[in-house]
Amino acid sequence: MDIVVLPLPPEKMKTKTADQSRLGFGKHFTDRMLLVEWKAGQGWCDARIKPYEPFVLDPACTVFHYAQEIFEGLKAYKWADGRIALFRPEMNARRFNQSAERICMPEVPEELFLKGIEQLVSLERNWIPTAPGTSLYIRPTMIAVEPVLGVHPSNHYYFYVILSPVGAYYAAGFNPVSILVEDQYVRAAPGGTGEAKTGGNYASSLKAGLEAKKKGYDQVLWLDGRERRFIEEVGAMNMFFAYGDTIVTAPLNGSILSGVTRDSVLKLAPTLGYRVEERQIDVNELFNDIRAGKVTEAFGSGTAAVITPVDKLCYKDACLQLTEGKVGRITQKLYDTLTGVQTGKLKDEFGWIRFVE
Ligand code: COI
Repeated sequence: MDIVVLPLPPEKMKTKTADQSRLGFGKHFTDRMLLVEWKAGQGWCDARIKPYEPFVLDPACTVFHYAQEIFEGLKAYKWADGRIALFRPEMNARRFNQSAERICMPEVPEELFLKGIEQLVSLERNWIPTAPGTSLYIRPTMIAVEPVLGVHPSNHYYFYVILSPVGAYYAAGFNPVSILVEDQYVRAAPGGTGEAKTGGNYASSLKAGLEAKKKGYDQVLWLDGRERRFIEEVGAMNMFFAYGDTIVTAPLNGSILSGVTRDSVLKLAPTLGYRVEERQIDVNELFNDIRAGKVTEAFGSGTAAVITPVDKLCYKDACLQLTEGKVGRITQKLYDTLTGVQTGKLKDEFGWIRFVE
C-alpha cells in the first residue's frame, strides 16, 4: 500500500526544544504523524503522513466507552555517522498484532507497520535528539472509532503513529528507583489481558501507582493475580534480580508483557558471562534472599525505561536496600551494552538494528 505524504504548512511546524537534556519523556511531539484507516468490508486504506494535529472524533466512538485500544513503544537513534537506527521493530510489529488479536482488532500487516514507521521517521529525522540518553520515541497506536454504544468490535479503526523526542523515562535519569511491592491491588489475572499492550491495563494501574507515590516510591511491582505471591512486572518495566552472576526474571505466563528489552537482556547477558533464568519468583523467598545477601542487584527493563536500576524494595513491613543508592555492576554493564548496540557504539552481533533510509 502506498503512503501519501500530505504537505506540511509552515504554521504546523513546531520549534524544537533547544536543551536536549531537558526533554523529559513524551512531552514533545514532532510535526507529522502517520494515519491509516481500517473499515469493515474494505480493510486497510487511506494511508497518509500528515501534519500532527488533533482528531475530531464522535463522542460515541468505541474507544471512549469500551477501551478498544492498543499501542506500542520503540525508539529511533541517530548514530554518529548520521545513519538512523530502529531497534528490533519487527518485535513490536508482532506484539502489536498479538495485542490486536486479544481485543478483537484487525491485524496491521507487518510490512505496513514497518514501512509506515520508517517513512515517518525518515521525514522527521531532524527531530531525533543526539545528546547522551536521548532518542526519538515512536508510539504506534490503534483505536476503535465506530460511533456506536453496543458492546461489540468496532467496524472502523485508526492505526496511527506519533513521534516524541525523549530523554530518560524517570526524572532522576539513570539512577536507582524505589519500588513498592503491591499487596492490595492486582494488575492482571490468568486469562485476562495482562500480556496485551492495551490502555486499560495502564488505567487500572494508576490508583496503586498514585498511592505508592504518596508514600515516596517511584513505582509498584505487581504480584500474580491468583495467589499474590509471585513477582510479575512493574507496569512500564519487566524485572530482573541478580543472584551473583545469575540474572533471574519472571517467565512469560500470559499476564505480563513480553518485553523487547527483556528479551534483549536475556540474549545479551550470556554473551557478557552471566547466566539467565526465567522462573517463578516467590516474593517471600526473594525478600529472604535479599536479607541473606544472595540477591545483589535488581533492575527493570523496558523501551522507555531502558535498564533502570532498583535500589529500594519494600513489601508489607519490610524495606530492603540493595546497592546503597548506587548502580550495580551488572546493571551498569547491561545498560552500557544495550545502549551501545542501540547507538552504534558496539557491534550488533544479533542483527537487531534496522536502518531507516
Ligand atoms: C514503553 O516502554 O515503550 C512503554 O510502552 C511503557 C510506557 C508505560 C511508557
